[in-house]
Amino acid sequence: MATPSPLVCHADAATYRVAGVVAHDQVADSTWRIRLDCPPIAARATPGQFAMLRLADRNDPLLARPFAVYDVASDADGPRYADFIYLVHGRFTQALTRVRPGDALAVWGPLGNGFRLPTVEHLVLVAGGIGQTALLTLARERLGQAQDGGPSPDRPLARRVTLCWGARHAGMFACVDDFRRAGCEVHLATLDGSMGSKGTVVDLLDGTAGIDAATARIACCGPEPMMEAVSHWSAARGIACDVSLETPMACGIGICFTCVAKVSDGEGGWDYRRTCIEGPVFDAKQIVW
Ligand SMILES: Cc1cc2nc3c(=O)[nH]c(=O)nc-3n(C[C@H](O)[C@H](O)[C@H](O)COP(=O)(O)OP(=O)(O)OC[C@H]3O[C@@H](n4cnc5c(N)ncnc54)[C@H](O)[C@@H]3O)c2cc1C
Ligand code: FES
Repeated sequence: MATPSPLVCHADAATYRVAGVVAHDQVADSTWRIRLDCPPIAARATPGQFAMLRLADRNDPLLARPFAVYDVASDADGPRYADFIYLVHGRFTQALTRVRPGDALAVWGPLGNGFRLPTVEHLVLVAGGIGQTALLTLARERLGQAQDGGPSPDRPLARRVTLCWGARHAGMFACVDDFRRAGCEVHLATLDGSMGSKGTVVDLLDGTAGIDAATARIACCGPEPMMEAVSHWSAARGIACDVSLETPMACGIGICFTCVAKVSDGEGGWDYRRTCIEGPVFDAKQIVW
């Protein structure tokens, strides 16, 4: 069984770059996909890492915002493009919808410690809302594909990868076929029953995914209450679970401490950990919810 590598500090990836916008399309309700011409991120991002994005031509909003590296694509010279999918939420993401191909964004990354999982027979990806963005490249890696979806000489690191994804309604699912094309079994749930099972993603875990505690491991990303529920669900069944936290961030490189989460110290207490450099992925058992 392979052991996860130790935490890595990615401060050297904090170089501020201006990256051209190559494509920018609405892909679901209030959800957009943007492609940046940024070879350093495309070549280096590992599953679960993120980048900080900021408008290049103005200082409002002042702080950059973190977004998972959703996908990468290559040209003839190798990895070149980094894709991000975002839900329109507040000031930055509203402004971002007005950016056009040919414009530029300021970006630094790839940042953070992503998913560093051992070999696992059945990897269950659990996404809530926009949380699927942290999981596509992990699915690819575990199904033995190259980072950009092409063939890889590496052996698959999971025999089976299942995506369980819950959203409020059908219109919120963006680019589900990316996961099907990667080779995942896909199960969807909506609160209003407009697509897939009616209910939450935890109902989905209970009902349809066919998860055997002896062979499964969970990787989860989404709203905090949903990750807490998935964490309790997996702990009750003895299934290892890693969560990717979506804590607000200001610098992304460990300086400002805006991104802290309470993490168990293993001795009955807890301490703050910076999600940007010590996460965003943590063992769910360590999080003080
Ligand atoms: C590692 C990581 C990966 C993420 N990946 C994605 C993704 O792939 N797609 C996606 O849609 N979203 C993702 N998010 C969430 C995304 O960063 C936020 O939705 C985004 O910051 C919203 O920006 P906004 O200006 O539109 O909204 P805001 O106006 O920033 O609203 C967000 C809320 O958070 C608060 N807030 C924001 N920044 C800070 C801060 N530094 N300190 C304190 N409070 C703050 C605001 O006051 C507000 O209440 C990710 C978050 C993290 C941490
Ligand atoms: S975002 Fe500044 S320390 Fe984490």
